[in-house]
Amino acid sequence: MNDKPIAAGRSSFDFVDKEAVFSALALKEGEVLLDLASGAGNYALAIARSVGRNSTVLAFDLWREGIEELKQRIDARGAANVSAEVADVTKRIPVADASADVCLIATALHDLVQEKGGEGVLNEIARALKPGGRLVVVEFRKIDGPPGPPKRIRLAQEELETLVLPHGFKKERTAGAGEFFYLSVFRKK
Ligand SMILES: C[S@@+](CC[C@H](N)C(=O)[O-])C[C@H]1O[C@@H](n2cnc3c(N)ncnc32)[C@H](O)[C@@H]1O
Repeated sequence: MNDKPIAAGRSSFDFVDKEAVFSALALKEGEVLLDLASGAGNYALAIARSVGRNSTVLAFDLWREGIEELKQRIDARGAANVSAEVADVTKRIPVADASADVCLIATALHDLVQEKGGEGVLNEIARALKPGGRLVVVEFRKIDGPPGPPKRIRLAQEELETLVLPHGFKKERTAGAGEFFYLSVFRKK
């Protein structure tokens, strides 16, 4: 297995409009959220802190060191409602079918698409989400950086919709998420 996946160690969390992301997630008490390609868990920890202890955040990344770091951060905070696991989310998200209420994929889908894993991760998201479940995708605006990846591999809103909708989703809304990002919310039919 690849020890250093594409974009390992990078995080958009410090630059994103967190209010916009939290409002798009709209995580309710008792819900289960999957943070896919979580890195060292900046989003996962903040989301877990913002919700009640009855909600669960499961973080997955292929980057072993990142997941180890996240596990240490979870222990250090005593954050009982987050867990972290190494997984190649383009192949298998290690959760049961229709078990998640919300999936978040923050500034990672363009990388997975680049690595020919876009269809794989979207199939897995569709499998893991409950009917009516939400998918929130945070992506870089298709403009020149920095920060972020080259413009040619960024996903424009229309490209994102073309990728996601055939997997059994309808689009709910798109919003800005700070200077460099936008987010789209999809709902599983
Ligand atoms: C730009 S980082 C975003 C991390 C995180 N979402 C954040 O912004 O804080 C992209 C992440 O995708 C992960 N990644 C790349 N390929 C992956 C795969 N096939 N399965 C799971 N994670 C993957 C990398 O290890 C990296 O942590």
